[in-house]
Amino acid sequence: MDRPHRTDIAVRASGLAKAYPGGVLALDRLDCTIGGDEFAVILGPSGAGKSTFLRCINRLIEPTGGRIELQGEDITHVSGRALQRVRGRVGMIFQQFHLSPRLSVLDNVLAGRLRFARRPWWILASILRRFPRSEREIAYGCLERIGIAELAFKRADALSGGQQQRVAIARALAQEPDLILADEPVASLDPASARLVMDTLAQIHQTQGIPVVVNLHQVDLGRTYGQRIIGMARGRMVFDGPPDALDQDAVQRIYGTPPRPGKASPAVPVPTVVAALETARA
Ligand SMILES: Nc1ncnc2c1ncn2[C@@H]1O[C@H](COP(=O)(O)OP(=O)(O)OP(=O)(O)O)[C@@H](O)[C@H]1O
Ligand SMILES: [Mg+2]
Repeated sequence: MDRPHRTDIAVRASGLAKAYPGGVLALDRLDCTIGGDEFAVILGPSGAGKSTFLRCINRLIEPTGGRIELQGEDITHVSGRALQRVRGRVGMIFQQFHLSPRLSVLDNVLAGRLRFARRPWWILASILRRFPRSEREIAYGCLERIGIAELAFKRADALSGGQQQRVAIARALAQEPDLILADEPVASLDPASARLVMDTLAQIHQTQGIPVVVNLHQVDLGRTYGQRIIGMARGRMVFDGPPDALDQDAVQRIYGTPPRPGKASPAVPVPTVVAALETARA
């Protein structure tokens, strides 16, 4: 698998705004640049706009103001095939994994290869689950790199939450992404599985050189894994610095009051490439 093309800047948000119908201003002229080699953790209270920010980056939602660039390319208002290409370039990890439960682990990872599909034969191949050998080898290699190759032929719904999330990371890796975004990837997991999943994200950042941005609620995990901490509140950045600089004052600035340890927020369902694949198969 080729190393994806890298640039110094993965993401640049300038004056980024998102007002949802009904008037909620989830992002309030946010300025934020993520470097091409960063492992950044975004912390912030519920409703701060963390998920909205990530979804603007992979354009699951469209900003209502400002500008968002992915590796220097303005993607603020892309649509159609250009939008599909943007989503293909960004690996997205969700709190609830978003795997296809009845499919094998390997088939789930193969869904990450869809961005390289030469239609229409690939669509037919995916429906019949007869992927080319070379693609299956790439998908298997992603599982090996994450250390879960022995799960390749198990059904996704037979796995623990932590295993499922690592499969989701393998699927993102199979996309050969320019960037990985993870929206509360450990909120549904026990502490040991949470660490394993965070270790996996840290490992692919280090070994593959892929920039990673993770939304977290757990300040302690953010301190442990983040090379850079971004604190958000009310749709704006209120802290930006290394984990060492995240003292009590900074935590108070982000949360208002100290957060309760281990707090998890409710998941918000969003469409995924796998869900799209399921729909295509139905
Ligand atoms: N689809 C939507 N329609 C209307 N308002 C929304 C929508 N999605 C999010 N919001 C609102 O936008 C604000 C930011 O939401 P967002 O989900 O980005 O916050 P968050 O920091 O991810 O919170 P959490 O930690 O609870 O996941 C909140 O006030 C939320 O209620
Ligand atoms: Mg959220």
